[in-house]
Amino acid sequence: MLPFDTRRQKLAETMRAHGGGVAIAFTAPEVARNRDSEYPYRWDSYFYYLSGFPEPQAAVVLVADGASSESILFCREKHEEREIWDGLRFGPEAARERFGFDRSLPFASLDDELPKLLADRPALWYALGSDETLDARVHRWLGAVRAQARAGVAAPAQAFDLRAVLDEMRLVKDEHEIATMRRAAQISAAAHVRAMRATRPGCHEYEIEAELLHEFRRNGSQFPAYGSIVAAGRNACVLHYRGNDARLADGELLLIDAGCELDGYASDITRTFPVSGRFSGPQRTLYEIVLEAQRAAIDATRPGARFIEPHDAAVRVLAQGMIDCGLLAGSLDGVIESSAYKRFYMHRTGHWLGMDVHDCGDYREPGPPSDSGKPWRVLAPGMVLTVEPGIYVRAADDVPAPYRDIGIRIEDDALVTASGCEIITVDAPRRVDDIEALMRG
Ligand code: GLY
Ligand code: MN
Ligand code: MN
Repeated sequence: MLPFDTRRQKLAETMRAHGGGVAIAFTAPEVARNRDSEYPYRWDSYFYYLSGFPEPQAAVVLVADGASSESILFCREKHEEREIWDGLRFGPEAARERFGFDRSLPFASLDDELPKLLADRPALWYALGSDETLDARVHRWLGAVRAQARAGVAAPAQAFDLRAVLDEMRLVKDEHEIATMRRAAQISAAAHVRAMRATRPGCHEYEIEAELLHEFRRNGSQFPAYGSIVAAGRNACVLHYRGNDARLADGELLLIDAGCELDGYASDITRTFPVSGRFSGPQRTLYEIVLEAQRAAIDATRPGARFIEPHDAAVRVLAQGMIDCGLLAGSLDGVIESSAYKRFYMHRTGHWLGMDVHDCGDYREPGPPSDSGKPWRVLAPGMVLTVEPGIYVRAADDVPAPYRDIGIRIEDDALVTASGCEIITVDAPRRVDDIEALMRG
């Protein structure tokens, strides 16, 4: 059975537990870049999670009733001329068979079909309030159903947020997703190795970016999962650096945050290494602090732990390291309590990872808040999150001179297992000796 089929069945079960109804998920629109040219097409993650269908102008409809359910794919019809220009379209019949739907219909018939499908159903499940065009469309369908009231037809009395259900499902990866994410992680790790090998003083950040893209693409990845950050020297202190056009100077560090998307799944790796192949003393001091913080965070990434525990573990190591090397003064508890460490570490240690690089899923437990707010989410096997501590020292008069303009982040992707976590990005070296050996060789 296709994984998409299994997911649709699981969704139907949840819908039935709430009395049943009709769910609808649209894929993403095509977006113009400039005249006659479009951005590379990327389907909607929720839609693809339920369908595996790659074409634009499509929607999944799931009808869950009593003990049965029906899955329907709306998609573009075959069109010889358009296919000559733009390539193959499955068309409803072939798509139904290939993607395992019970039924398929032309996308153009959607507004006629939905009022029929919604007649006498108790509820509608869709991305509630996420898009004005969709809300207006739902409004029209419901109006069309209500217009038949005198014929005894009832319109859905309830609406549920489809995304909330799918977010929970997507938070825990199934076997198919884990296999894809492992492969994406391996490709990205190989790209980081390739980048380390290619780096030398005098080349440009964009040349190294090209090495990453080359490795992604030659292994079948369709896109980078996000804009690659290739940041030399002080550029590494800009968290979302986008320029990628500076020259690499001897003595600088190079921070690369880049990961590929493979068959819809993201990977997200950061490595920081010396342009010359050898860390200087101060670079190594800060690097070892970040690496130790990552070790502590990885140890804290296990089932039963709360989402924030790896972050708290990393912050303790980073803050102590900042005190030890003279970036901060005071006691460990003091600099944590006052948030003084945030001057050099201003982001969270991780995020969910999946179809989206900052993946869906609540970081807090579901349910209403108690007096102390909502507790952080408890980690469970099958969840995937990044572990990405860093230290960023922007130049300033009150900062010890040897550390000025150094930015370091080390980021890996962790799959929570039954006993702890598995780092699926280990193929990219992160120990100082391993990096230096690779760059020498
Ligand atoms: N590359 C985005 C992030 O690390 O969150
Ligand atoms: Mn990340
Ligand atoms: Mn990243």
